[in-house]
Amino acid sequence: MENMKDLECKILGQIAEAADLKQLDEIRVSALGKKGSITEAMKTLGTMAQEERIETAKQLNLMKTTIEEALLKRKTVLDDEALNAKLQNEKVDVTLPCRPETQGRIHPVSKIFEEVIAIFGTMGFEVAEGPDIEDQFHNFNALNMPLNHPARQMQDTFYVAQASDKPFDMEDAYVVRTQTSGIQIRTMEVKKPPIRIIAPGRTYRSDMDATHTPMFHQLEGLVIDKTTTMAHLKGCLYDFVKAFFELDDIPVRYRPSYFPFTEPSAEMDIGCLKTKTELKVGAGNDWLEILGCGMVHPNVLRAGGIDPDEYQGFAFGLGIDRLAMLKYGIPDLRTFFESDVRWLKNYGFAPLDFSSMTGGLSGNGGQTR
Ligand code: DAH
Repeated sequence: MENMKDLECKILGQIAEAADLKQLDEIRVSALGKKGSITEAMKTLGTMAQEERIETAKQLNLMKTTIEEALLKRKTVLDDEALNAKLQNEKVDVTLPCRPETQGRIHPVSKIFEEVIAIFGTMGFEVAEGPDIEDQFHNFNALNMPLNHPARQMQDTFYVAQASDKPFDMEDAYVVRTQTSGIQIRTMEVKKPPIRIIAPGRTYRSDMDATHTPMFHQLEGLVIDKTTTMAHLKGCLYDFVKAFFELDDIPVRYRPSYFPFTEPSAEMDIGCLKTKTELKVGAGNDWLEILGCGMVHPNVLRAGGIDPDEYQGFAFGLGIDRLAMLKYGIPDLRTFFESDVRWLKNYGFAPLDFSSMTGGLSGNGGQTR
């Protein structure tokens, strides 16, 4: 029995000293494998007298269990050590700045969309959508712009071709939407107040010069509740322009205006400095118009299925491309849509610079452009 104890001590010592999983497995095989020391000892049982055999078998089985347990324990320790070493090896410092992307840039229009969504998202607005190809009810009629309304002629509308076997019916034709305002109606149709949405999207008008392109981008805003007032509109838009231009304060003014779907209507200007070579927002004695807004016309609420005696609200609309030109100093709108990668390399944004109110809107203060 003495040499069995010795054997057990020896194997347990080896187990305790095994430096890695491979060594541990070698020890397991040398003890418990087909030709292992314990297996070999088991084979001698047959040659023993019954009493001795029973006693030895018991001892051997106990020893086997002890060794198996020791192997398992050591394996757990070595597994942990191996995992820790691996984690240590593969450690990633998430605070390191990302490597500059060599290829691919976010278009300034997409960037502005991300920025305005981040700002209004923080204020509790949801993003709403509507179709680019729109019926005239949503694009015009429901917005208090019936057929022959003068504002309708001013919008240089693109009409969608109809089946060629019938004469073109201007009144019935679909249009490519001239404004995102139709999404106000689409939202009212499916949502009960309180409503607080923004609707970014493409819009289309037959127009082309340095500040107009046939396809451009707008952002619509709509808030409807029981006690929404013009004061809310002013506060909301003031907070928006400050956040957007990343300034602590910015002079703003509202001029009376006319839109068929709001009453009263206004245009919002921001204070700026205009020189021959520069336009600086937030300082100086000049004004720059940046958006249209007003209290939602009762006819529009009615067209959207909302009772104007119970609810009221405000709306606003702004040109995203103009904001991009302004914020990032891009002189010609037509260049936005020329798909020139050199232009995009210059004016585009690194893909991983997400816009957020906490992490910065234009990404590292515009450094990564
Ligand atoms: N739809 C207008 C346009 O395309 C912009 C606009 C002005 C939208 C005033 C509004 C608003 O919601 O209240 O010129």
